[in-house]
Parts: sequence; structure tokens; C-alpha cells
Amino acid sequence: MKLVSLSFSLSALFVSLAYADNYTTRQIGAPHSKNYKIYIEKDGIPISPFHDIPLFADTTSSTMNMVVEIPRWTNAKYEINKETPLNPIIQDIRDGEPRFNYNIFPYKGYMWNYGALPQTWEDPNFITEESGTIGDNDPIDVIEIGEKIGYTGEVKPVKILGVIGLLDQNETDWKLVAIDVNDPNASDMNDISDVEKKYPGLLNDTIDYFRKYKIPVGDGPNEFMFSGKAQDKEYAIGQIMTTHNHWKKLVSGDIKENNIEKTNLLVEGSPYKVSPNSKIILNIPPVNLLPAVPIDPKYERWYYV
Ligand SMILES: *[C@@H]1O[C@H](CO)[C@@H](O)[C@H](O)[C@H]1NC(C)=O
Ligand SMILES: *[C@@H]1O[C@H](CO)[C@@H](O)[C@H](O)[C@H]1NC(C)=O
Ligand SMILES: *[C@@H]1O[C@H](CO)[C@@H](O)[C@H](O)[C@H]1NC(C)=O
Ligand SMILES: *[C@@H]1O[C@H](CO)[C@@H](O)[C@H](O)[C@H]1NC(C)=O
Repeated sequence: MKLVSLSFSLSALFVSLAYADNYTTRQIGAPHSKNYKIYIEKDGIPISPFHDIPLFADTTSSTMNMVVEIPRWTNAKYEINKETPLNPIIQDIRDGEPRFNYNIFPYKGYMWNYGALPQTWEDPNFITEESGTIGDNDPIDVIEIGEKIGYTGEVKPVKILGVIGLLDQNETDWKLVAIDVNDPNASDMNDISDVEKKYPGLLNDTIDYFRKYKIPVGDGPNEFMFSGKAQDKEYAIGQIMTTHNHWKKLVSGDIKENNIEKTNLLVEGSPYKVSPNSKIILNIPPVNLLPAVPIDPKYERWYYV
């Protein structure tokens, strides 16, 4: 009996140690401007959130690190930038201006924390069997349904619950459904069926939102794989592993994608690995957060679509 309880408390210790990575953000420039960048640091040294943060947050196969890009109820379209060395988070640009998501009635911005899993890549050369469409060339996206509002650049361990198969403008764009492991309800949430039980209507409204969210910019409604039915945890983890394997080929140089920045500090064996003392790292500007640019009132409109 004693041995059993010792091994339990030891594994609890390892889990909490695994979560103790000290990630912070380094903000440069004015939020909502084109020059604003959020670098992620580990122990004060800038790293790549795309390549250097481990996908797995512990030794179970379903707890993963999520990088929060867009906090719940906000609209600025922040994302891990693929083209800039060390892949800082930058606001996406549309028509030459920083991009905001529109408010689709009755939703205000996003209804969950939104972000991506590190060390994954939806390869644009790969056709997903279930949809016949190519990958959207980004890390795999996550919606995190816990109660706490995250912040841009936050790294949080999440439990994977399932996945929605969005076809965003005819590209495969999986939206994983996950919950923060530290949410008070996380222990009751183990698979996609628990989402409808505890959060009735959330999946349906999520589908409704993604169907319509690009209509205000003149795009058609989006389609879904499986008629919009969210798939379970096991299926979701299969898709994560596919995108993790595509990422491995990217950072090992097996796939040549010249437009993606693969510089990293921590990926063993990667030809793009550099030391913290290399010029590319030392040239990253120091913290310099400027006052935010006010948001154009046109983004306060409701869109009835
Ligand atoms: C985390 O890293 C930052 C930046 O180096 C440092 O200021 C802070 O004290 C660290 N926090 C912990 C808990 O180690
Ligand atoms: C969607 O993408 C697939 C794969 O690239 C292509 O074969 C198909 O024609 C596209 N369909 C539409 C409606 O654009
Ligand atoms: C989550 O947990 C909190 C605290 O126990 C509870 O008040 C709340 O109703 C729960 N939320 C959901 C959606 O189950
Ligand atoms: C699901 O969403 C649709 C809109 O897409 C709505 O018409 C329908 O009533 C919703 N169903 C449930 C069960 O919430």
C-alpha cells in the first residue's frame, strides 16, 4: 500500500514539474499596429513558439501545450508568424491593415480562447483523405473552452477532447477542442461527449460561428467535414500526430518550404538550430511596449449574416 501511494505522489510531482516551464512574453511596439510583435521567452531567452515549445505537456498522450493567440471575447487576429525569425506572434494583415474578426450576431469576437499547438504543421502539400483538401499551412488550431480568459502569448497545458473539421475556404483547418488542465471542471472533461453535457450549445454555436465568420469580408460560408459533427478525442489525437509528423519533416529539412522560418534553439538534430548567443537571437530587440493604437469603430458593428 505504501509503495503504491509513494508512486502516485511521485507521478503527481513529475506532472507539476513538467508544467513548471517558465515562459514569458517580450512585447515590442504598439498593439494593433503593424510593428507590434510578441516574442515568447523561456527563462528570459527568446525561443520559437512554433518549434521550441514541446507539443506534449506531460507523459500522457492527451495533455498538450497550447499557445494562446486570441483571448476569448477579443477580435484582434493575432497569430504565430511563420515568416519572421523565431516566429513571434503578430497581428495578421488584411488589405494592408491589421486584421480584426468581425462580430457575427450574437457573438462577440471568439467565444473561447483560441490558439495553436506547437510543433505541428498542416502541410499544404498534404491532402486530407476525409476532405480531399490541402492543409492551411499553419500549426494546428485549438479552441480552449475553460472559464479563464487567457492572454496572447500564454502557454497553457490543455486536455484534448475532440476536433471540428473546418474547411476554411477549401483548406483543411482542424479546430481542436480542449480545456485548460487547471480549469475547475477539467477533471470531468475527458472526451467530446462531455462537452455537450457540460457546455450545452457550445459546439453548435462554434460551428455556426465558423460557418459565417468570413462572410463580412466577402467570402462565402465555410463548409465542414462530417457535416459539422465534432470528432472524438482519439480521432483528434490521430490528426495531431499527423501534423506533428509533418512538422518534424519541416524542421529536419526533409520538406523544403522556403517561406517558413525554421530557426530554433531546442530541436535536437535540426539543421536550423542555433545557439542563444547567435546573432539572429541577440538581434531581437529588447522589450519596448508602446501604447495601443485605438481600434477602428467599424469593428464594433454587428453583422447579421
Ligand atoms: C521566469 O523568467 C523571468 C525572466 O527571466 C524571471 O524574471 C522570473 O523570475 C522567472 N520566474 C520564475 C518563477 O522562475
Ligand atoms: C478544393 O481543393 C481541392 C484540393 O486542392 C481541389 O481539388 C478542389 O477542386 C477544390 N474545390 C473547390 C470548390 O475549390
Ligand atoms: C465549472 O466549475 C465551476 C466551479 O466548480 C462551476 O461553478 C461551473 O458551473 C462549471 N462550469 C461548467 C460549464 O460546468
Ligand atoms: C444549432 O445551431 C443552429 C444554427 O446553425 C440553430 O438553428 C439550431 O437551433 C441549433 N441547435 C441547437 C440544438 O442548439
